[in-house]
Formats: sequence, C-alpha cells, structure tokens
Amino acid sequence: MVALVPLAWLSGLIVYANHDGRWGRLPWWMPGDWIDLHGTLGVLLWPLALLFVLYALTLGRHRLRQPANAAALIGLVLAVGSGKGMNEEWLREGALDHTLYSLHFTAWLLIGGAVLWHLQAILRRGGPALALSMFQLQVRSNDHPAHWPSLVGRWFRRSA
Ligand code: HEM
Repeated sequence: MVALVPLAWLSGLIVYANHDGRWGRLPWWMPGDWIDLHGTLGVLLWPLALLFVLYALTLGRHRLRQPANAAALIGLVLAVGSGKGMNEEWLREGALDHTLYSLHFTAWLLIGGAVLWHLQAILRRGGPALALSMFQLQVRSNDHPAHWPSLVGRWFRRSA
C-alpha cells in the first residue's frame, strides 16, 4: 500500500502527460505502455485498498476525525472506484471528457494534496527530525516481534 499508492500516483502522472497534457506536460516524453503498467498497479492496489478501507472504517475510525486522514481516504476510494470503471482505450483515443476520467483525475489531485497536508502536519509537530525518523529501519529492543502480542494487547486495552 505504502509503495503502490505513490507508484500509481506517479504512473498516473505519466499517463496524463503522455495522453492528456491539457494543464501542462512533462518536459520529456516517457516511452512505454504506461496505461497498461498503471492498470496493473491499479489491479494490485484493489485488494489492499479494500482492506485499508475496512480498517479505516472500523478500528481506525477515530483517526478519521483528522481532516487530512479523511481526505486521503476519500481520495483513495475515489481513485480505485473511478479507476475500476475507466476504459483503457479512452485516453489512447483522446476521449478525455468522460465523467469517470474527471473523477479519477480529481482523486489524483486529492491524494497529492492529502500527502502534502500530512507532510506539513508532521513538520509542524516534530520538524525535520520527526519526518526523517520515519525512514529509520533500525529496530529498537522493545520493537522485537516477541513483544508484539503484549503491545497489541496493550493497544486493545487502551482503545477499549
Ligand atoms: C493516486 C492516483 C491514482 C490511483 C491510486 C489510481 C488507481 C487506479 C486504479 C485502482 C485503476 C483500476 C485498475 C483496474 O481495476 O483495472 C486505475 C485505472 C486507470 N487509471 Fe488510475 N489511478 C491514479 C491516477 C491516475 C491518473 C492521474 C491517470 C491519468 C490521467 C490515470 C489513468 C488511468 C487509466 C487510463 C486507467 C484504466 C487502465 C486500465 O483499465 O488498464 N490514473 N487507476
């Protein structure tokens, strides 16, 4: 999920630049069948997005009170929902006026905006140190898998 959404976002940008480009193009042409690649990423994203939405609406419900989280979820649902209904030939044929395509593109804007929103919230709360700490792969002693059951138990007791 963490990798697939950015990959879908970026490949979507390339599909837009290669086949649409009404609001600007990339300064270079990206060769290759990006629509196919993007469609494949989209198919892989589907089951993960479904699990994520189930989590967000149940265990993670309280997190939706943060508008940035709600915006990201709406963007994701809109992207996979409208993507499912898209026809891969539309952009190849230059048919750019389908409502589903506009919705799909809006989802792209929404997801991009939600990521920027998260980023500024992280920087506001913890500065660059907090942002950079998310890329640390070092495992702390109390992060060891042997501690996971007690951590999960504590989390359930706290949120009950
Ligand atoms: C975060 C942004 C995006 C996400 C998460 C996303 C996700 C998806 C998903 C889930 C599908 C459905 C795949 C399937 O079930 O067949 C799809 C299809 C598609 N998307 Fe996106 N998309 C994004 C952005 C874009 C953008 C910006 C464009 C182009 C301007 C685009 C163009 C397409 C096209 C043409 C299809 C149809 C491909 C096919 O059926 O093979 N997408 N997308």
